[in-house]
Amino acid sequence: RKVVLAYSGGLDTSIILKWIKMTYDCEVVTFTADLGQEEELDGLEDKAKKTGASKAYVEDLQEEFARDFIFPMMRAGALYEGRYLLGTSIARPLIAKRMVEIALAEGAQAVAHGATGKGNDQVRFELTSMALAPQITTIAPWREWTFKSRTDLVNFATEHGIPVPVTKEKPYSCDRNLLHLSFEGGELEDPWLEAGPASYLLSVPPEKAPDQAEVIELGFEAGNPVSINGEQLSPAAIIKKLNKLGGKHGVGRLDMVENRFVGMKSRGVYETPGGTIIHAAHRDLESLTLDREVMHMRDSLIPRYAEMVYYGFWFSPERETLQVMIDKTQEKVTGTVRVKLYKGGVYPVARKSPYSLYNMDLATFEADKVYDQKDAAGFIRLQGLRVRGFKAKK
Ligand code: ARG
Ligand code: SIN
Repeated sequence: RKVVLAYSGGLDTSIILKWIKMTYDCEVVTFTADLGQEEELDGLEDKAKKTGASKAYVEDLQEEFARDFIFPMMRAGALYEGRYLLGTSIARPLIAKRMVEIALAEGAQAVAHGATGKGNDQVRFELTSMALAPQITTIAPWREWTFKSRTDLVNFATEHGIPVPVTKEKPYSCDRNLLHLSFEGGELEDPWLEAGPASYLLSVPPEKAPDQAEVIELGFEAGNPVSINGEQLSPAAIIKKLNKLGGKHGVGRLDMVENRFVGMKSRGVYETPGGTIIHAAHRDLESLTLDREVMHMRDSLIPRYAEMVYYGFWFSPERETLQVMIDKTQEKVTGTVRVKLYKGGVYPVARKSPYSLYNMDLATFEADKVYDQKDAAGFIRLQGLRVRGFKAKK
């Protein structure tokens, strides 16, 4: 029997590796995806094998992550509950997809993950694996073992020779990739307690950002960011560079209480510097290139699309159907947006596109031939038919 485990090399997944081997008496193959978490991946293979893995996969999936997951989601303008740019949510289907592919290639019967039984991530991992390979089962140790506390876990680790790192106090759960960094748990569980500096790694506090604004030009093709200041860059490289620029100016911090799919509210602290710049610039370019009705219809679907991603239904008929429509709207979202970064803010200040629908002749208040101002009187009279007298005193 063989299991493929999503392994980070941290304490939790090391414990899980050992625990699965002991509990299921099976071979464990580990899989680690490099999604831009900037952790040391050198030596991870050795580490996994020392902890008992029979084989360890470490793969750089950053470009695929940016091109096939982050960008399609950003073309949709997705925001969960109006704010969250879904940095963790969008990574899970890719990790699970690759994990399942490895399981099939290795002839494994199950995959395993280190997500708890209280969160969103378990759902995202498992819905993905169900969609792609329903015959593969999932082992979720957090839902199965009898450890009651952090201390139990540390004791288990010590007993089995798993090194327990002595790190200074950080919020309990951290997830980082190309798109974002998130912290949850620990002292953050009190929503009235302001997050301290330990909850932020990618950005300076806005009040410590440079006094000098920085202006950049972001180029888009069919809704995807493709260049910064005229320099063409790969999808992952664009996000990385924007993370640096945004981080320097304190852009992309978010502290919110959100509704988890499983039902409870949870407080999270996020940093999405590059994603925040892309989101703002993309929407700005759409103001020039999208038809009004198309834009309003697409906008009405953003909460639905975001739910699909947040709830873990990336590989689902509804998300794929909606994506076709979204991508149709993006065909002409091509052009350049000039944005100013200043003390936590992203301010689009200029935009241009070969497909601009903006008609200077129509918008102008100068005399013109196509638009007859007299027509507006009838337009308003008929629009007013229904509300005529609606609030008038009798
Ligand atoms: N609450 C966010 C989400 O559901 C972040 C989850 C963070 N996950 C983690 N394993 N630390 O997408
Ligand atoms: C977890 O529970 O493993 C992390 C948080 C989440 O998935 O929402």
